[in-house]
Amino acid sequence: MSLSHLFDSLTAEQLRNKACAKWQHFPADVLPLWVADMDFPIAEPIKAALRQYADSDNFGYPEQDGLPGVKEATLKRLNERHGWQVEAKDLTLINGIVPGLFLSVMALSSTQDEVIVPSPIYGPFKMAVEMTGRKGVYVPLIELGYELDFDALEKSVTPASRVLMICNPHNPVGRVFTRAELEKLADFALRHRLWVVSDELHSDLVFSKHKHIPFASLNDEIAQRTITLFGPTKTFNIAGLKIGFAASQNPDLLKRFEAVSAGLMGKPNVFAQTALVAAFTEGDAWLTETLSYLEANRDFIGDYLKTNIPQIGYRAPEGTYLAWLDMRKLELENPETFALEHAKVALNNGAWFGPGGEGFLRLNFATSRAIVTEALERLKAAVNAL
Ligand SMILES: Cc1ncc(COP(=O)(O)O)c(C=O)c1O
Repeated sequence: MSLSHLFDSLTAEQLRNKACAKWQHFPADVLPLWVADMDFPIAEPIKAALRQYADSDNFGYPEQDGLPGVKEATLKRLNERHGWQVEAKDLTLINGIVPGLFLSVMALSSTQDEVIVPSPIYGPFKMAVEMTGRKGVYVPLIELGYELDFDALEKSVTPASRVLMICNPHNPVGRVFTRAELEKLADFALRHRLWVVSDELHSDLVFSKHKHIPFASLNDEIAQRTITLFGPTKTFNIAGLKIGFAASQNPDLLKRFEAVSAGLMGKPNVFAQTALVAAFTEGDAWLTETLSYLEANRDFIGDYLKTNIPQIGYRAPEGTYLAWLDMRKLELENPETFALEHAKVALNNGAWFGPGGEGFLRLNFATSRAIVTEALERLKAAVNAL
């Protein structure tokens, strides 16, 4: 069976048996299109590599730098897929991107400092700033094209500004920032001597006509001021394995990053590392088909909303598998509760993504076309009943 047929054949009845938060958290009459896991089966080569590793009787400590092949596979991918030349010494393994966000903020700033964050943005950015005692300065993206607001960014700078955090491709709005936008942002960061934390976890989930450009690949000067966070977990649907990388071509930044995590975090386990190597070296046939299924889902959602629920604002995402729905015209008290109680669809509340997110919902469309359709039909009926 082709992958798209396999994806088409997924049903809510089957998926409800999965022991994951996405499907277990809500009652059975709710369709869960919230947390960013895909409902799709994992690429065969990843499963085969994990089975093979389980039979290896080798569950001992790996080298600090990772199992053989971990860094090589990663460097090759960065180079071949994204044209970014980094070396093994520029990479450090981490147990997840959220820990990487916290550690980067701690490594690059003090509690007297301010951190500039374009917003809305994936919730843990705000948590990484505020739970470590820094001051977050949130600069709204321009609606509804979701471009960076460079005038507002300039105005947000104070003598205490130390770090700029970005998410590219962007969760939740789905932008894949252009080279011109990133160059302007790099110029902004350099002029104000800001350190940059660039979360590029979604960098391989990019649709046709768009291209991911690693922020640190723009030029040597910005590379010296940037920590990049990325990994295989979103792209290959293995978030429960917990693995990623922090990368910087400035050895001092990586040293600081490692110093704040020393003794606290450990390294990803051998299964996570095995899955990373298989994903990066043998996962791309699965990824190509998955991207084309996701892109068709994305387009389906755009057509459906335009025809059936034009009150919901939507700009097709350029990457990720997340649709950012502008519910404000409906004047709901709480869009998340509305969707959950009136449509029986679980979506993420825009308010969780910080300033600029209020009145929006995030819909995860990495599921079968039939489930996406059912969710939209439920939403339509709920809106019509208002
Ligand atoms: C932009 C972004 N960063 C980080 C994460 C979480 O990464 P991890 O599970 O590796 O902590 C997500 C999860 O959806 C995400 O979208």
